[in-house]
Amino acid sequence: MATLKAVTTTEGTPPFSFSAEALAECKRLIARYPDSKSKSALLPILHLAQSENEGWLSVNAMDAVAQVLGIQHIEVYEVASFYSMYNLRPVGRHHLEVCRTTPCMVRGSDDIIAYLEKKLNIHVGETTKDGMFTLKGVECLGSCGTAPMLQCGAKYHENLTPEKVDALIDQLRNEPRTNYTDL
Ligand code: FES
Repeated sequence: MATLKAVTTTEGTPPFSFSAEALAECKRLIARYPDSKSKSALLPILHLAQSENEGWLSVNAMDAVAQVLGIQHIEVYEVASFYSMYNLRPVGRHHLEVCRTTPCMVRGSDDIIAYLEKKLNIHVGETTKDGMFTLKGVECLGSCGTAPMLQCGAKYHENLTPEKVDALIDQLRNEPRTNYTDL
């Protein structure tokens, strides 16, 4: 198993260090796999790093993941840049990921996106000026039966209507940053 220790690097992007709790969770995740297969824990450890880096993966955060797993930096970059659930740029406190694949589109996801764009005064891919919300269009999130839907952190918000969107935005304005993990 790779040696686990806090990592702080400073070049290029803000420094990043895993918390003690996250390092303990990394250790638990890595222990699920044989010593020679610790890379199998890469996806959940990327989620941990993202959660501890205000919702996005800086180069330093990805390098810390590589060090914890004892793998090449490029092995982390290529995975992090492949999956849409990893953010390679800073995001708002709440990241609204609206599904726009066919079943959701047929059930009105375009209208939901347009409603959010108007309400938040941003376009897809942008963050509100106050840093509160980022809006993103994503592919199927596996909840087609409750379309249209969006994901915010680890939670799904389903059967969306403009009224439900209004209630969700009001609720999120009073909540701390949404995360993908329970740490
Ligand atoms: S198409 Fe939207 S959740 Fe599957």
